[in-house]
Amino acid sequence: MSEVAHYYPLDVTRRMQITREQFEARQQGARKRWQATMTQADVPVIVVPWGSSSVAHGSVTTFEAIREWVSSNGVKAVVRRAGPMGTDYLEPQVDIIMSGQPRISYAHITADKVPDLLESVLRRNDLRPDLAMCIYGTDEWDGAEVGVRGIPAAKELDFWKLQQRVVARNLGYIDPEAIDDYIARGGYEALKRVLFGMNQEEVIKTVTDAGLRGRGGAGFPAGVKWDGGRKARKSPKYVICNAHEGEPNVFKDRRLLEGDPHLVLEGMIIQCFAVGTPWAYFYVGDEYPLAIHRTKVAVQQAYAAGILGDNIMGSGFSCHVDVQMGGGAYISGEASALMFGIEGKRAMPRTKPPRSVEAGLFSLPTVVNNVETMACVPPIMINGAEWFAGIGTEKSKGTKLFTLMGSIEQTGMYELPLGRTMRELVYTCGGGTLNSRPFKAIQTGGPSGGCLPEEYLDVIMDFDSLDKYGGTMGSGGYVVYDDTTCIVDMSRYFGRFNRYQSCGKCVPCRIGTKNLLHMVDRIALGGGRPQDIPIMEKWSDHVVEMSLCGLGQTAPLPLVGGLRYFREEFNEHIVQKYCRAEVCEALVERNLLAQGMPAPGQVQQGWVEERFLPARIGERYRQQFGAITQNGGNGQA
Ligand SMILES: Cc1cc2nc3c(=O)[nH]c(=O)nc-3n(C[C@H](O)[C@H](O)[C@H](O)COP(=O)(O)O)c2cc1C
Ligand code: SF4
Repeated sequence: MSEVAHYYPLDVTRRMQITREQFEARQQGARKRWQATMTQADVPVIVVPWGSSSVAHGSVTTFEAIREWVSSNGVKAVVRRAGPMGTDYLEPQVDIIMSGQPRISYAHITADKVPDLLESVLRRNDLRPDLAMCIYGTDEWDGAEVGVRGIPAAKELDFWKLQQRVVARNLGYIDPEAIDDYIARGGYEALKRVLFGMNQEEVIKTVTDAGLRGRGGAGFPAGVKWDGGRKARKSPKYVICNAHEGEPNVFKDRRLLEGDPHLVLEGMIIQCFAVGTPWAYFYVGDEYPLAIHRTKVAVQQAYAAGILGDNIMGSGFSCHVDVQMGGGAYISGEASALMFGIEGKRAMPRTKPPRSVEAGLFSLPTVVNNVETMACVPPIMINGAEWFAGIGTEKSKGTKLFTLMGSIEQTGMYELPLGRTMRELVYTCGGGTLNSRPFKAIQTGGPSGGCLPEEYLDVIMDFDSLDKYGGTMGSGGYVVYDDTTCIVDMSRYFGRFNRYQSCGKCVPCRIGTKNLLHMVDRIALGGGRPQDIPIMEKWSDHVVEMSLCGLGQTAPLPLVGGLRYFREEFNEHIVQKYCRAEVCEALVERNLLAQGMPAPGQVQQGWVEERFLPARIGERYRQQFGAITQNGGNGQA
């Protein structure tokens, strides 16, 4: 075959024990292979970033079309698959490295464009600046200093300008299903150094000195949690990687597992060593088949390579990892609910204390961390605590993954040093609102934060700064709204999400979220009353203060933010029965009828009741932001 294939067979049954020397020999072999098939290949290298977003955009058919063209034209080339880069707005993306030349990235290469592109670049040495987006380094995204023939270097692009890739460094470079790609780029070196050069206390001290705080939403110091786990007296203990990510509008953990699962796995093994346990679980949201697949492949490959299993690299330390799938409901990601899920029970939060580090999974000491938190660990071990603590702000160290969507030109995932402003995220990274429509608000922290108007865009994104304005960094998902978004409708969407995701265990959340939604529904349907606003504010306070877990404690915040910053719009709906964004259909119809114009539907007596729980609620958001989890919550109807 003319094509130089790049496949790594998956052997699920293999388990191996290796020595440190054997691992070092593998490192050397992996580096040579990386050079031969990537950085110093003597044939063209074609890379297709491939994650769930790119698959939706057609990257698999693009990949197959490339293989077909290469094979049928008798051209020698390396065709590689890579993890998603986070450049969602450019997909399907195809990058080409001609021998001795920089890596040129082409955007929106659907399968039909493949023959033209490859014919031009591979056969005619025409770099096709009309299709190119930018130039990356062959080994690092920011490796190209200057552009070529009118194609800019990546770091000149708004999307990349402010980024500092630490945990996302390998995305778009390595094949996530190839352990040797990961090893070639320094993977498992941190584990080796820990196993042969550090004790548990030293690892925990490094994580503590680095100032690493949890990336799953709450920002709890990782070192404190790990130390609690280490000191817990009962055994066995467990480590769990929380990869559930069930909230709408956030997709950073999914991207990381789709693009670099070994990085997360390496962080997890180091964490097991620090806590003093050989047992760990991945808990991945079952809506994410590609992330699940790649996580499983990574675990299987690590066993086959002797990086998981007994006596890793001859160090005497053993580690065993299993991959479990989440139950679909947003609440399954809450740490205590998640543990019930792994035990095979219904995933519902429990009261604390006891804390998980004392009595977690199977009532045994358990340390739970987010995917991104774990991914920070290997770079910290390699570069040192001081290096990590030197990035970010005084209390929020390191970089953070942010996902940006909604009305935005450059949808995708960004890794920025903590402390950048939301304005920089929206206008520099994201390229501003879609088609330059007037900016209206930014939804912070997925469904757990308020939406903030433009005057707050200069607030920095870190663990603490947004809270006093009613926002939150949360796990890093931001959604931009323009003037076509109705804030009442948006509050209704999040109200509905939280109400149906409520597990129903405690009364304030079960009844409170239902009643709040009931009121917002009525307002959107034209049945609002002036007294509704103070009632909603009071009920929101109750739900926030009295709910058992983080879901109820944050569920009313999108509504509270709407009432705080966009009260006028609520009043318009209530008093004038008017929706300025022309989204709330009942009000739009009513106004058309009042003006003597034909309305799209019949408005008759009893219409409020008929439409009280309309099937179409939230449909606009689902179309815009993707499916929300449907099969969770307590099934209240
Ligand atoms: C309703 C709800 C859903 C949550 N979902 C997730 C999730 O999907 N992933 C996650 O890492 N943390 C989630 N959390 C936070 C976890 O309870 C826990 O704080 C986190 O996994 C700890 O990891 P970290 O310290 O590394 O952030 C959720 C919390 C709540 C209240
Ligand atoms: S706050 Fe809501 S989700 Fe959390 S335990 Fe109570 S009912 Fe369940």
